[in-house]
Amino acid sequence: MKRLNDTRVALITGGVVIVLAAVIGAWMAPPALEADERDSATFTGTRLVGTLPAQWRVIWTEDPAHEATLSWTTAGLPDSSVVYYDTEARGGELAMYRHKAEAATGRYTDKDWKLHYNHALLTDLKPATTYWFVMVSDGRLSREFHFVTAPEGDAEFKLLYGGDSRSDRGGRQTMNRRMRALLEEDPEILALVHGGDYVSDGDDMDDWVEWLTDHELTVTSDGRMLPLVPARGNHEADGEQYDEIFNTPGDKGGNFYATTIGDEFLLINLNTNISHGGNQADFLETVLRDNKGARWQLANYHRPAYPAVKKPGSALEHWVPLFEKYDLDVALESDGHTLKRTCAIRGGKPDATGVVYVGEGGLGVKQRTPDDERWYFEGGVTASTLHVQKLTVKKDSLLIESITDEGAVKDTWTGKPRKR
Ligand SMILES: [Fe+2]
Repeated sequence: MKRLNDTRVALITGGVVIVLAAVIGAWMAPPALEADERDSATFTGTRLVGTLPAQWRVIWTEDPAHEATLSWTTAGLPDSSVVYYDTEARGGELAMYRHKAEAATGRYTDKDWKLHYNHALLTDLKPATTYWFVMVSDGRLSREFHFVTAPEGDAEFKLLYGGDSRSDRGGRQTMNRRMRALLEEDPEILALVHGGDYVSDGDDMDDWVEWLTDHELTVTSDGRMLPLVPARGNHEADGEQYDEIFNTPGDKGGNFYATTIGDEFLLINLNTNISHGGNQADFLETVLRDNKGARWQLANYHRPAYPAVKKPGSALEHWVPLFEKYDLDVALESDGHTLKRTCAIRGGKPDATGVVYVGEGGLGVKQRTPDDERWYFEGGVTASTLHVQKLTVKKDSLLIESITDEGAVKDTWTGKPRKR
């Protein structure tokens, strides 16, 4: 009888231990990234609970071969937020990671949600290298993710470009899944250059919570993240949350900066919500002059100089003369909610030596009807379809493909290196 009791006690104790282990394991375990759940119409993303890392993102600014900001959101304010990272996969075994970086934390500007940002700046990274990482806030772990740093030297690579991911959550989720599919089928894609208007109201955390949650859909099923190169749209206006979410790209109040990838690719990210002249125009000219030797030169900003729907923004007056003076290759523009590519333009006329304007914003927002009668679409293209542009950067060509939400290639344009 005593032996039976001992056995019962042992069984009960064992059961308690197993249940406790399961509870602790569930608490510690990284959230699943199941394709089934992420492909369902009821996708809700990682729950915002306690200090569990959610709404993960990788942000690139000036020097993505050597630096990246890894960011996430927590419901509670963590005492400690850290990224553990390494050039080898470590499967979330924290003790195995050779590097770690403390994150700066703070509360988003918002009365209702009371959520917190966590930004860890990784520096001294190796170019063209896969980094594996886990985000940890007060002992709560994300799953292990990875991203690939930009190359250096005279490198060939690919980028995505798009804007206007606001106001239609279904369309945005469709486009995020499309971008994930593109990244899964083509690992040479490095990052997404975003042309602004992420959300409808850049001061409303409700909108940002939805956007950030949906951004999780861009992560591949094996945990690869698509770094983001941000620019402000008019719907972000001068709101604080843009800086809190993207860790203040460029200087606060300006948010303009140049991204260089390798020796031969320059991307100048500008802000169409502030004065286009003054110090922003000075910055643009300085960067163009200092990088005259770079083979490929592009700009990324929100309000178009050569729009397909609305009137031209101030970029036409302040920036286009500099683009033409320094022979910019392509200006990436958003805001119109339509697909466009102009002919090459110089001096307000078609000119094969001029600048090509591509984009106009198709990452989810409902699409408008473009005004295809405008002179600069002669030899160009317009369409009313959700889309993302895929840039293939090579030594002898720059290919831009406009890809629809269904994955169809709607337009292709190929640029050749200029003599500057
Ligand atoms: Fe806009």
